[in-house]
Amino acid sequence: MSVAVRGSNGSSSRSTSPNGHQNGGHDNGHNKGPRRIKVGVIGCGYWGPQLIRNIHEMADAELVGVADTKPERLEFVRRHYPEVKLFSSHTQLLETDVEAVVVSTPIHTHHMLAKEALTAGKHVMVEKPLAASVSESVELINIAQARNLMVMVGHTFLYNPAVQELRRLVGDGELGRVYYVDAARLNLGLFQRRANVIWDLAPHDISILMYVLGMTPVAVSARGSMCVQDDVYDVAYLELLFESGVSAHVHVSWLDPAKVRRITVVGDKKMAVYNDVSLVEKIRVYDTGVESPVTNNFGEFQLSYRHGQVTIPYITWQEPLRLECEHFVECIRTGADPRTDGMQGLAVVSVLEAASDSLMHGGRRVPVEIPSLTAAAPAAAPVGVDMRTPAQIGLASAS
Ligand SMILES: NC(=O)c1ccc[n+]([C@@H]2O[C@H](COP(=O)([O-])OP(=O)(O)OC[C@H]3O[C@@H](n4cnc5c(N)ncnc54)[C@H](O)[C@@H]3O)[C@@H](O)[C@H]2O)c1
Repeated sequence: MSVAVRGSNGSSSRSTSPNGHQNGGHDNGHNKGPRRIKVGVIGCGYWGPQLIRNIHEMADAELVGVADTKPERLEFVRRHYPEVKLFSSHTQLLETDVEAVVVSTPIHTHHMLAKEALTAGKHVMVEKPLAASVSESVELINIAQARNLMVMVGHTFLYNPAVQELRRLVGDGELGRVYYVDAARLNLGLFQRRANVIWDLAPHDISILMYVLGMTPVAVSARGSMCVQDDVYDVAYLELLFESGVSAHVHVSWLDPAKVRRITVVGDKKMAVYNDVSLVEKIRVYDTGVESPVTNNFGEFQLSYRHGQVTIPYITWQEPLRLECEHFVECIRTGADPRTDGMQGLAVVSVLEAASDSLMHGGRRVPVEIPSLTAAAPAAAPVGVDMRTPAQIGLASAS
């Protein structure tokens, strides 16, 4: 139970939650509703405007300021949100009274910006991936824990109602025992100079796979091509091996004519295809399968195929990024551990680092070693294995 302490000015001050990190507490004023959490955003390039829009629209948050090093991006914010304070440097934003910041800058800057924000006493949500290495990720988690602050990572798809439904299908055993998973995330662009396609796109698939299967990968191998730039992989194929023996193949590409965001889960009872590009049929469940081989009386090998119905579960749609931003603010307020906490971010970065190692060594299988942090708060265990149902975590469950 949190203990809210009221300040002399009547506003509620921070309190400490069971997991240790400070939280905002509730305003005890009559019918005022919860106090709005003051949030700042660092980075307003391609993705930042989505975060800015969502935070600006949220009743429980107050978008106080935006920092970007590019004047034209600050001008964009000024045009759309004239009341929001603008900063050409993140340090100026961190000097304000914001309680939390969202970092939406290129990957190589995540660690530096998140570390400075935590050191300045702010809760932090970092866009995916959490950082550019395992050691950077560990340092961020340790700083957050030492200062009783929250570090959350923007694994947006874990707030996607279709992914929730896919997880339910697997968790409830509707697909049966999972044989394998195939994932494809393809597009033309957006090419980057300082991060390859694995670090850019695969965090989505790795986080989804860990969440849906409820397991972390134990080994990964990766191969890729550098087609357009001499030194940056733009097409890659990963194979992830999970504890149970399930394997998953992930194809990521910046060099494909079609936009594809598809995950196929093949079980021994049914198969499910999650197509994020589809507006109305995000998930199709195929009552399709093959019975185990039998040998007939003549000693001939026989298979029996099953072609049943295709069902399309109804999914109550909500914008995943809005759910993610609301979850961030809610966790600050209540002191709860976020679904995509620092340890989740660390697990994904551990897989990415092992995949990079594999790429450098011709695709050899590399063990995934996720550091166990001794001082870890309850959020640390078990990594990626949140087996609560969608209803328990407050998301609409598709029927
Ligand atoms: N969750 C998702 O679905 C999703 C989608 C796209 C991008 N992303 C993530 O969002 C982040 C940003 O990606 P993007 O495509 O918007 O990049 P971008 O390059 O388009 O934009 C980054 C912005 O950050 C600014 N910036 C860089 N360093 C800064 C600093 N030190 N202080 C202040 N501003 C700084 C740049 O000027 C730029 O405007 C990345 O981590 C990326 O992986 C997430």
